[in-house]
Amino acid sequence: MYELLNKMSDNIKSGSRKDLFKLLNESSQYDVTISKSRNRVFIDKNGKEIIDFASGNYLGFDKRQEELLPSAIQAVKDYGLHTGRARLTGHYGLCLELEARLARFIRAEDALIVTNTFLGSIGIIPALLEENDLVVMDKAAHAIMFHGAQLARDKGAILKSYPHDDLDQLETLLKTHQHARHKLICLDGVYSITGNYVRLAEIQAIAHKYNAILFVDDAHGFGMLGNTVKSQNPYGDGSGIVNYLDLSYDNILYIAGTAKNMGCAMAFAGVSKKLKNTLLAFSKPLDYSQQPIPFAFGLLNAGLDLLAQEGDVLKIKIHGMVQELLAGLAQLGFETFCQNGFPIVSVKIPNTEMLTTFSKILYSDYGLFVTSCPYPTMPKGSECIRMTITAMNEPWQLKKIIQAFSDYKEEILL
Ligand SMILES: Cc1ncc(COP(=O)(O)O)c(C=O)c1O
Repeated sequence: MYELLNKMSDNIKSGSRKDLFKLLNESSQYDVTISKSRNRVFIDKNGKEIIDFASGNYLGFDKRQEELLPSAIQAVKDYGLHTGRARLTGHYGLCLELEARLARFIRAEDALIVTNTFLGSIGIIPALLEENDLVVMDKAAHAIMFHGAQLARDKGAILKSYPHDDLDQLETLLKTHQHARHKLICLDGVYSITGNYVRLAEIQAIAHKYNAILFVDDAHGFGMLGNTVKSQNPYGDGSGIVNYLDLSYDNILYIAGTAKNMGCAMAFAGVSKKLKNTLLAFSKPLDYSQQPIPFAFGLLNAGLDLLAQEGDVLKIKIHGMVQELLAGLAQLGFETFCQNGFPIVSVKIPNTEMLTTFSKILYSDYGLFVTSCPYPTMPKGSECIRMTITAMNEPWQLKKIIQAFSDYKEEILL
């Protein structure tokens, strides 16, 4: 039984992901079974207590069932469990109301809800580009945009990339291909491994010179970063990286995930009304696949309310913990990538072998669930252990990280 399927399974474990697959398996921080948890402490399948520093739910809304559920349940009561059709053919009023709310919040002309950022990217990028168009990737941009760009290349678009944040190279590419009809530059708002922010103002200015459009994936930033004018926290009101940097959407196609900060697996694009109509017809997942369910719309509505009520308090707590962790690691002599104070703290580890050994120790001896970022996820020499700090973590949990790094300081710092 399944002889052919299993043979196929063995064969596809060759190629570039093979090493990664093997390393992840060895690190023991892979496919971890997570039980019901409180405050980011869960019991794994061996009955071991583990502290979770690998969650992207910075605001902790994933554990705010009590506050978010009533709205989600009301949406189900009002509309049913499921639309049962692709977005192109029909939607509930609730979906449009939520899109209007999201557009107001991020200050875009309109918003288009998609199932997640992956389907958003592989739907929107190839919908926009055709033969003689250009798609340019920052090499550190999230892989999902690359998949979208590959589909655009299948339609005849030219696909180019430039070294991370090398704006001279970006400009050279745009100049070389200045006659391309449409030009799209794909970037992360917040880089998922370093936690650093894109230099959007500079890139937007370059893009303007060449009539290029920026496709900005703000999966981490939406909910965390935003307009800082009335915020009593350094990250802002959560309306996204474009507002955080006080820029306009003039030549920006913004895409935000709600899975990380809003406790709700969904995403949306910030677009003009005209482009929204075009995307409805041309983005394939909106035609060939299901749309999000009313439950998710209700969750996100309540999440936006909770963000307005508690965002400042939660972010002040997060900021304090990030500063504490950074100070502790710096005191020990460890280098992180963190330049902006975003709650992604990645510590450089000299090589992949040490990374695998240390992440195993972190899990088994200290009960810490972190993200290992080996080569080829990161370039050789930049391998790192990534920790994400959320409002559900507690300061005593950070002390465990500092302790572990302190205990292994000699080995890691060589
Ligand atoms: C920059 C970036 N974009 C997109 C995603 C995936 O988001 P989603 O779960 O909404 O598909 C991630 C996931 O970690 C990410 O880091």
